[in-house]
Amino acid sequence: MTPNCPTLDIEAYRPLFPVTQHHIFLNHAAVAPVSTRVVEAVNEYFTDVLRAGGTNEPAWLERVKKARADAAALVGAEPEEIAFVKNTTEGLLFVANGIRWREGDNAVTASCEFPANVYPWRNLARWGVETRFVKPRGGRILVDDVRAALDRRTRVVSLSFVQYFNGFRADLEALGTLCRERGVLFCVDAIQGLGALQLDVSRTPVDFFSADGHKWLLAPEGIGVFYCRRERLEDLEPLEAGWWSVQKATYYAPDYSTYTAPLRNDAQRFEPGTRNNAGLFGLGAALALLREIGILRIEARILALTDRLIEGLQRRGYTILSPLRPAERSGIVTFRRKGQPALQLHRRLREANILVSLRHNAVRVSPHFYNTEEEIDALLEALPA
Ligand SMILES: Cc1ncc(COP(=O)(O)O)c(C=O)c1O
Repeated sequence: MTPNCPTLDIEAYRPLFPVTQHHIFLNHAAVAPVSTRVVEAVNEYFTDVLRAGGTNEPAWLERVKKARADAAALVGAEPEEIAFVKNTTEGLLFVANGIRWREGDNAVTASCEFPANVYPWRNLARWGVETRFVKPRGGRILVDDVRAALDRRTRVVSLSFVQYFNGFRADLEALGTLCRERGVLFCVDAIQGLGALQLDVSRTPVDFFSADGHKWLLAPEGIGVFYCRRERLEDLEPLEAGWWSVQKATYYAPDYSTYTAPLRNDAQRFEPGTRNNAGLFGLGAALALLREIGILRIEARILALTDRLIEGLQRRGYTILSPLRPAERSGIVTFRRKGQPALQLHRRLREANILVSLRHNAVRVSPHFYNTEEEIDALLEALPA
């Protein structure tokens, strides 16, 4: 048991993450390791295909159903509000390309966003849609600045749950409320928060979010979750609708001669064709693990580890670039030291077998729930005093 998190027995879960035997892995904001449960689930799928091709497809569909239910339960949504996507970008594109734009409309994002949440909006320039960039202040995106960027032609605000560089956690509640008041859609790039921090769409007025599995969800790359609030379904034109997007599309009782079936009236209309079942088996196992532990316990654990890290870094005279207000904290802590190239710090940590990221001449650290206090201390000790 760890002192900071008495109800979560970390030692029971660490063996599920063999990465801990090879590295001190503190880089979940990049591409995270998967657990043995994910590997077993993916193997199970491939073993099945190896032996029987698609014969057991009905059983796979049950697995997909369970993964969808777990994805929904993780965020307080209904399964009908979840579509599986191939990456974060795909979900953002469903929103960007699905809105019925008129020339002169605008979309609001921020100038510090990861490019995945910029290109889908900038691409709309060819339809006469402007992308507006809110500038962060001191690494924080202020709700008042977002408000000031809105006008009568704003159709959507799209921001990250957690900023990839400094870990700033957006006030989704306040932003969503603002958007609702102004009749503007609210879209969230959730990849840097989902799986680490609680996001409850039953309380938080987010209309859409998208997140690939490969970071905090501890799932494979190339399979992610797109959320579309039920009441917003008709606000998006499903431009990628295909034979799986329509009602009664099944493999085992197919009617391949009907071409006029109506669109599904749930988020599965965004799944146009055959799914990435291997990825879905893996994502399903990852979601089940997160739910078994509980997102609140995961969040508390991550914040306890980052508290320790921040305190140690400050004691050693490092400058923390991540916002320190409790409500703005996340699993990401970014730091640098004056006069010391971050490249050197990064190299030094790498030599000590401690894996973190180098971003914009700063070091970005991102522990998950299974990391230990000892690993945080090892990082602190490996840094120049
Ligand atoms: C905030 C953010 N959005 C999106 C992505 C990745 O997008 P995708 O899943 O489409 O590759 C990253 C990856 O680093 C990210 O940090």
